[in-house]
Amino acid sequence: MGVLTGKTALVTGGSRGIGRAVALRLAADGARVVVHYGGDEEAAKETVTRIEEAGGRAFAVRARFGEPGAVDRLFDEMLAGLDGHGLDILVNNAGISSGSSVSEVTPDEWERLLAVNVTAPFFVIQRALPLLKDGSRIVNMGSTASRFAVSTQVGYTVTKAALESLAPSLANELGRRGITVNTVAPGAIRTDLTAGYTAIPEVVAGLEAITALGRLGEPEDVADVVGFLAGPGGRWITGRTIDVSGGTYLGPIV
Ligand SMILES: NC(=O)c1ccc[n+]([C@@H]2O[C@H](COP(=O)([O-])OP(=O)(O)OC[C@H]3O[C@@H](n4cnc5c(N)ncnc54)[C@H](OP(=O)(O)O)[C@@H]3O)[C@@H](O)[C@H]2O)c1
Repeated sequence: MGVLTGKTALVTGGSRGIGRAVALRLAADGARVVVHYGGDEEAAKETVTRIEEAGGRAFAVRARFGEPGAVDRLFDEMLAGLDGHGLDILVNNAGISSGSSVSEVTPDEWERLLAVNVTAPFFVIQRALPLLKDGSRIVNMGSTASRFAVSTQVGYTVTKAALESLAPSLANELGRRGITVNTVAPGAIRTDLTAGYTAIPEVVAGLEAITALGRLGEPEDVADVVGFLAGPGGRWITGRTIDVSGGTYLGPIV
């Protein structure tokens, strides 16, 4: 029996990248996982299949954040699959990036970044509140982008800082129910989101040079921390941001 046996988790953006690794990790610990995705049905099915082949339980739900009614659709579909059961773990992971500097960001891009990275997770939490059992866990996927300057990702940075800012207030509000709320802030992780620059050896070398542990991260590096926060070991951590970057940009490495 895993430490999450009998628990149910919703992982947004569980079809690919970090979200898939989180879904696999929570399932490996025994949780039934609702694998949310935005449009890549094949990828979502693969996550579900991998969980089932390992002996776990999962089902996929589609909702493209940023489209009207997306959060309602997510909850309608999920509730149908949950058969009256509540939620124990909510991981707000789905997100998009942007490679625009301040002079390049268009109003449409700004709106889309906010819609997917901030508005959707906010209302997912709001809708999840009545479903979340006492003692539940909420983990929001932040980024080291909110810790140091990345001028070519300024819009993205704003959204991740906004998401991160939720945890302390929600932790205070929900703490008396034993619900913890934390932000996990990865550094550069090899996924589709970062494929554009992780394919460039010079960029990778530059990132490795400013990272204490000397390499880029893998999705499992993040998933293990989410798994810890979701499990019994994470019970006394709330309202905080956990940096999961292998020590990126801590200061000069001599
Ligand atoms: N990779 C990194 O270096 C890194 C670093 C720091 C933080 N993060 C954060 O970690 C999270 C996951 O990133 P990732 O690298 O794993 O990204 P990814 O590989 O691009 O996967 C993104 C996931 O989000 C879903 N998604 C994207 N847009 C969506 C939308 N409009 N509506 C619903 N779902 C949507 C995707 O669903 P589909 O498969 O259906 O498209 C997919 O499951 C993001 O919040 C990102 O900001 C990543």
